[in-house]
Amino acid sequence: MPAAATSALVTAARASGRGVAAFNVITLEHAEAVVAAAEHTGLPVVLQLSENAALFHAGRVEPLLAGAAALARDTPVPVALHLDHVTSEDLLRAGVAAGVSSVMFDASTLPYEDNVRATARITAWAHSSGVWVEAELGEVGGKDGAHAPGVRTDPAEAAAFTAATGVDSLAVAVGNSHAMTERTARIDLDLIARLRAALDVPLVLHGSSGVPDDDLRRAVTAGMTKINIGTALNIAYTAAVRDRLITDPSVVDPRRYLASAREAMTTTAAHLLRVVAG
Ligand code: G3H
Ligand code: ZN
Repeated sequence: MPAAATSALVTAARASGRGVAAFNVITLEHAEAVVAAAEHTGLPVVLQLSENAALFHAGRVEPLLAGAAALARDTPVPVALHLDHVTSEDLLRAGVAAGVSSVMFDASTLPYEDNVRATARITAWAHSSGVWVEAELGEVGGKDGAHAPGVRTDPAEAAAFTAATGVDSLAVAVGNSHAMTERTARIDLDLIARLRAALDVPLVLHGSSGVPDDDLRRAVTAGMTKINIGTALNIAYTAAVRDRLITDPSVVDPRRYLASAREAMTTTAAHLLRVVAG
């Protein structure tokens, strides 16, 4: 079947009080592993390509999205395609042309008024193309935007932001940060509940790799719906490759160690899919 729409997966998850996992893919093996995990668990999933991942592929989204779209078409489980943390309008247009049903436009490092203006303009364009929009409300100058550990999203400001921009979902800052390799993040569950009460749109948790399983479950119960996970896959991938190369220093065929990496990512993704689905 064709790729699912992110809006449908997120809307259904929110209505049933569950979460839907969205995994960042960097290589085709990431996408293969995530789709295999979705098949093993029978759970829907979002495959997302970030601007940073696109830059790794010489700024091109088409090759990896074509592979992800083929995987989505050939599986019985719903798989949606999404662009993550995009600041470039050219990249947004390329992703939409390549078939993503949703985009995250990230103007979170801009001053509030500039973020509102840019996000409202992009949202109007995306909606005219039938594309669902995620945005982020962040802090000026923070390297990690809204996702530095000390940053918190204010519920009243978030409500004003979503009303002014027309976005379909919002990434909010609740205490964790991106690219954590230890699962030691402390998230503010009370703030998640207040954001859920203040906003009509689904909430997105970024930087979920650093959040322990029980807190991911609590975050979903408190009101998070789309749960973004990247680093956890890369930890599994790299550990498997490292182990394989150390075990067999004579290996030259990349299929030997990439098969291990893909298998390790499948195990990690299946576990997190189940955690997030509740
Ligand atoms: O944009 C990336 C996602 O928020 C995942 O973050 O790599 O810390 O899990 P993570
Ligand atoms: Zn993120």
